[in-house]
Amino acid sequence: MRVHVADHPLITHKLTVLRDVNTPSPVFRALVEELMTLLAYEGTRGVKVEPVEIQTPVSPTTGVRIAEPRPLIVPILRAGLGMLEGMTKLVPTAEVGFLGMARNEETLEPTTYAERLPDDLTGRQCFVLDPMLATGGSLAAAIEFLLKRGATDVTAICILAAPEGLAFLEQELEGHDVTIVLGALDERLNELGYIVPGLGDAGDRLYGTV
Ligand code: PRP
Ligand code: URA
Repeated sequence: MRVHVADHPLITHKLTVLRDVNTPSPVFRALVEELMTLLAYEGTRGVKVEPVEIQTPVSPTTGVRIAEPRPLIVPILRAGLGMLEGMTKLVPTAEVGFLGMARNEETLEPTTYAERLPDDLTGRQCFVLDPMLATGGSLAAAIEFLLKRGATDVTAICILAAPEGLAFLEQELEGHDVTIVLGALDERLNELGYIVPGLGDAGDRLYGTV
């Protein structure tokens, strides 16, 4: 497993506003989308391309286009949905599949309540979107789901992570080709399983349920 923490002053600036408890839901939503676009630039460095011949107004030349099969983007509902637009802006030809997961706030165990994904992911590059990687239970379950369907190349893009969640993923996904791209790696989890300093409950702040 490879972990890449994006290091850019614009990301840190936007993250600071996102973390602020006084940031209202509409601003929070806009920032999640903007951060996603910045993280997508990092997260898609390994996107597969193939050569293509084109004609400029001046001469023929060789360029590249995104290779077939098209990449698959998988936002984890609910909070991952807030990142989707930021990603599809950069990769508009990608296919989008959905996984609905909710963490039980007492046991911290994830359950999957919805799934709309292609049956066969052999040869597909998959990009999983979830703003929060806390215990890592939800992301591990989502990635294992994709691996079981034949995916061999998975990148997860998260806005914040806790070291405990990364350690859990490392152990659960040992030997698999998985890359994790983060906006920031925070200090720890608190006793309720929240990321510290974090930003609170991403889904609630995105969709105004606080
Ligand atoms: C949040 C978040 C992740 C998960 C992270 O979702 O978006 O999916 O918790 O926690 P974990 O790493 O400990 O599994 P939540 O289950 O609250 O659902 P929501 O997106 O519907 O708010
Ligand atoms: N889910 C969130 O939305 N925030 C956290 O800090 C942990 C899990």
